Amino acid sequence: MQLNFDFFNKWVKDKLGIQLDAYKEKQMQRRIANIMESCGVNTLEAYSKLLERDPVAKQEFLEHITINVTEFYRNRDLFDTFEKNLVTLNRNFPRLKIWSAACSIGAEPYTLAMILQKNKIQTAKIVATDIDRTILQRAKTAVYKNSDIKNIPISDRNEYFNQLSTDEFALKDGIKRQVLFKKHDLLKDRYEDKCHAIVCRNVTIYFKNDARDEVYQKFSDSLVPGGILFTGATETINFSENFGLKKIDSFIYQKM
Ligand SMILES: C[S@@+](CC[C@H](N)C(=O)[O-])C[C@H]1O[C@@H](n2cnc3c(N)ncnc32)[C@H](O)[C@@H]1O
Repeated sequence: MQLNFDFFNKWVKDKLGIQLDAYKEKQMQRRIANIMESCGVNTLEAYSKLLERDPVAKQEFLEHITINVTEFYRNRDLFDTFEKNLVTLNRNFPRLKIWSAACSIGAEPYTLAMILQKNKIQTAKIVATDIDRTILQRAKTAVYKNSDIKNIPISDRNEYFNQLSTDEFALKDGIKRQVLFKKHDLLKDRYEDKCHAIVCRNVTIYFKNDARDEVYQKFSDSLVPGGILFTGATETINFSENFGLKKIDSFIYQKM
């Protein structure tokens, strides 16, 4: 298949508002070629026409390119380290503002809410954002499968969820109420300010280096001095001092 990605990237930016050219090229092109094949089209022009007239195809495209794999307590050991750092942070900042960026179906911000509750931190605010409106709707609904909650100990599962069926668990209101969801594109929207902690995991790996570095600089600008950034298990920030961030623990950086 010979594909004209320059045309398609421009089309997606104009019509869907997404900056595909900031994502790693080969991965993105492979994903687009796969989804086109599953739709039975073999030119990007034909695919763009399909996306224009078919909302289901459009939603499938958005989900396919943004990849929303997640789970509660993803990399449990790293969340334990983050929890320890968050509790320390709370001693200096009694009213925490935490931003969970690229939060997918909400497993990450709700994990944060559980951590706050467990540590009796009552005066915190969690803002959770993602580029994908549909996924944010699912996050607000907060009904999960066994595979999403497998890292949560059984006692906590019983405390925080109502079981609806063999494979459906509805999060209770107490945790749901703690998270405010908003649509936000890390590549073009204005960032949150005065954050004490930012959790952004498993999304910058999809960005090209320039775009990723810009995101890290903006996160640094969003943090108060002493605030922390928690990244994904493969997202080491090289030369983090260049962004005003100091590594203080595994995948945790502090604003200098
Ligand atoms: C692999 S999931 C990671 C979810 C969660 N942070 C975790 O680690 O479990 C990546 C998420 O990034 C979101 N995303 C992709 N591009 C984005 C962008 N430019 N701005 C904001 N969110 C984006 C996707 O919609 C998806 O929900």
